[in-house]
Amino acid sequence: MCGIVGYAGYRDSQPILLESLKRLEYRGYDSCGVAISVNSALETAPTIEVHKDVGRVVDMEKNLPCVHGRVGMGHTRWATHGEVSPANAHPHLDCSGRIAVVHNGVIENFQSLRDELSREGHHFSSETDTEVIAHLIENYYSGDLERAVARALAELVGTYAVIVMVAGHEELVVARRESPLIIGVGDKENFVASDVAAVLDYTGSVVYLEDGDIAVVSGESITITNNGDRVQRERQVIPWSVEEAQKGGYEHFMLKEIHEQPKAIENTLKGHISLIEPLIALDVVKDEGLEDVLIVACGTSWHAALIGEYVIGKLCHLPVRVKVASEFNHYDMAMDKTWVWGISQSGETLDTLQAIKKARALGCPTLAITNVPGSSITRIAEQVFYTRSGPEIGVAATKTFMTQLVALYLLAMSFASLDMMVYEGLIEGLRLLPSKVQQVLDEVGKIAQHARELSPYANVFFIGRGLNYPVAMEGALKLKEISYIHAEAYPAGELKHGPFALLGRTTPVVAITTKDDTYEPMLTSIKEIKARGPQVIALAEEGDEDIEQFVDAVIRLPQVDPLFSPFLNSVALQLLAYYTAKERGCPIDLPANLAKSVTVP
Ligand code: G6P
Repeated sequence: MCGIVGYAGYRDSQPILLESLKRLEYRGYDSCGVAISVNSALETAPTIEVHKDVGRVVDMEKNLPCVHGRVGMGHTRWATHGEVSPANAHPHLDCSGRIAVVHNGVIENFQSLRDELSREGHHFSSETDTEVIAHLIENYYSGDLERAVARALAELVGTYAVIVMVAGHEELVVARRESPLIIGVGDKENFVASDVAAVLDYTGSVVYLEDGDIAVVSGESITITNNGDRVQRERQVIPWSVEEAQKGGYEHFMLKEIHEQPKAIENTLKGHISLIEPLIALDVVKDEGLEDVLIVACGTSWHAALIGEYVIGKLCHLPVRVKVASEFNHYDMAMDKTWVWGISQSGETLDTLQAIKKARALGCPTLAITNVPGSSITRIAEQVFYTRSGPEIGVAATKTFMTQLVALYLLAMSFASLDMMVYEGLIEGLRLLPSKVQQVLDEVGKIAQHARELSPYANVFFIGRGLNYPVAMEGALKLKEISYIHAEAYPAGELKHGPFALLGRTTPVVAITTKDDTYEPMLTSIKEIKARGPQVIALAEEGDEDIEQFVDAVIRLPQVDPLFSPFLNSVALQLLAYYTAKERGCPIDLPANLAKSVTVP
């Protein structure tokens, strides 16, 4: 979603702002812009130069005059209020053209504020909610920008991360409420951004702002207040390197991230299972008296949660409920003894954050599973389990999903009362995962061939049973996200209750056939499907010779304990989606209309 960058220091801001904006492209956007406070000649008044356009940062850059100024801001917009147009792109100015604002979030009371400001004579040049912020600040500004921003923000209902500057001043005023904002700390220069990816090229040290913080950022200093009181926020080292956030020779971030999965799994396991002893050491503590778990999440994280539901149920015999985070607000079940877990790779998905807040308000203990240190969810939930995937840039989640599964399996194993032999077997299964996943990756050529066959179709069904039904859901999501093929997942047994009406020669079916108690019923479903004409591609383990006679093609996967089959099936389905999208010439890392980090409701 919208990305924000700001710079105050001794260098020309324009190239830094453009590079930082490119680093935020992965969040998803449709238009972009920059504003620079121009170092005017002494005899003329200082001004703010704004350039904005629809489309990509590189395209805007081509038409951008070279503007000099040591303080500036930039923005990538993902439209919420008003169409995608240059006028609606950020930054926005007040009437005088001396105050500039970029904003991420949603101002819920913007219409009433706009009506009021219009009556007072303010003229608006966009349809956005953001523009009211510039005009409100203009109303309150009489030389003290921080004060004017504080007064304006007090009138806003909704969420925001904002950067504000006044022409001729050497500082930015920045603030956040429920939208992410960080300050990258440099030497005689400071950087503001929606997330650390934007500042990795310039600094390894950041300050994470808290809700309600207002900071004045110049090249020399950062001062933060909250509710009028001066506060200190700890400076933290970013645990990611610049190289990790680059493509490293791969054609797309998504492909790189798919190939990084063995390492990501290993890193997440590291520290939790000892290589010698079959030991799991987690920092997560389960309160006495808790009787069930409720997991909230969105998108791919929701699919991880659904797999977790099976695994926790199987190993711990603990009742587990899973809710899409945005639905949790409409959920009214008893939760007296419920432990609520929120899964969010970014730690910034607004619906998941709101669900965790609601759980806390209900008095439930909470646990966050996230990949991003310092993200909002880590400040809201009482306990945190960090996955260690490194930065994920491709919009379609891959390696973070894989490590979310690792986290859920580890949590399930740590709360289970298992026979030692069973326990050791599971630990061994976890240890082998990186090499088993690597074996799937080594077969990339064969999977790419199946993808080429899938690419001309308009509709694809994915079916699974049990533990692998949510894997089928994730496979379908990956395919639709990046190849724009309509893909639907069904529990295999449910196909005959509706989808059969759609099956025919033009609707291929991808079937997950795992050698557990789902295998025989799966074969029955496949026979029923074949009788209606579709091509069936099966995901089956090495050594399963029977499957060949029932299907048209087989993607072979290494043998593992069926409990761990979601890891291997998911990697194969990621590759299938990736190469299908590539065959269709789709923009894999930046799918249309999607965003990596969904920070609006
Ligand atoms: C967006 C992304 C998905 C992601 C979902 C949840 O829709 O495009 O890839 O799964 O948000 O994100 P989270 O950061 O909460 O896991």
